[in-house]
Amino acid sequence: MNPLIVAIWLMLPAYLPNNFAVLFGGGRPLDFGRNFSDGRRILGDGKTFRGTVAGTMAGVGAGLILDSISSSKPDLGLPDFGSGAELVLVLIGLSLGAMAGDIVASFFKRRMGLERGAALFLVDQLDFVIGSWALTFILAPRWFSESFTSEIIFIVLIVTPILHRATNIIGYKIRAKKEPW
Ligand code: CTP
Ligand code: MG
Repeated sequence: MNPLIVAIWLMLPAYLPNNFAVLFGGGRPLDFGRNFSDGRRILGDGKTFRGTVAGTMAGVGAGLILDSISSSKPDLGLPDFGSGAELVLVLIGLSLGAMAGDIVASFFKRRMGLERGAALFLVDQLDFVIGSWALTFILAPRWFSESFTSEIIFIVLIVTPILHRATNIIGYKIRAKKEPW
């Protein structure tokens, strides 16, 4: 299978959480509206319980569907997400890790004095990629090293900012997102 398709396939459980968080987010913020010691919000109103839960569930759900396709049709040459307990760990790693990477980035954006929604080039585009890789590596190191070869990692780093920008422009146009980044 074409390595670009493999890269996107492997990353879909990490890509989708952001979009579902945008669509279903809102309500109580993760930081409960509290400030950090610098007087600014810990995370801001852009990181909510509803968005984080909806995003993680969407990523895990999508991953289960993708895994059933690649496992039932091995001749397609699409990668699978492990089996048994490893499958669950991989999908939680990819999707919750993506949400966590975005949350950690918001923490640092607030410390830099950036308001909620302010753009931070490359951090916005790759925070969730780093988060998803880090948590998946911790939870399922064997699957991670076998699936994310250096070629796939390279492709993901090039393609993700382009896909991220394109989806956010669409999200902005359909009024699901406040900013086009
Ligand atoms: N969202 C959410 N919970 C999350 C992540 C995102 O509810 N864990 C929702 C919020 O409605 C948020 C929108 O998705 O406004 C867009 O996400 P993002 O761009 O990550 O947040 P920003 O509003 O830009 O805030 P920040 O500056 O902290 O990135
Ligand atoms: Mg943002």
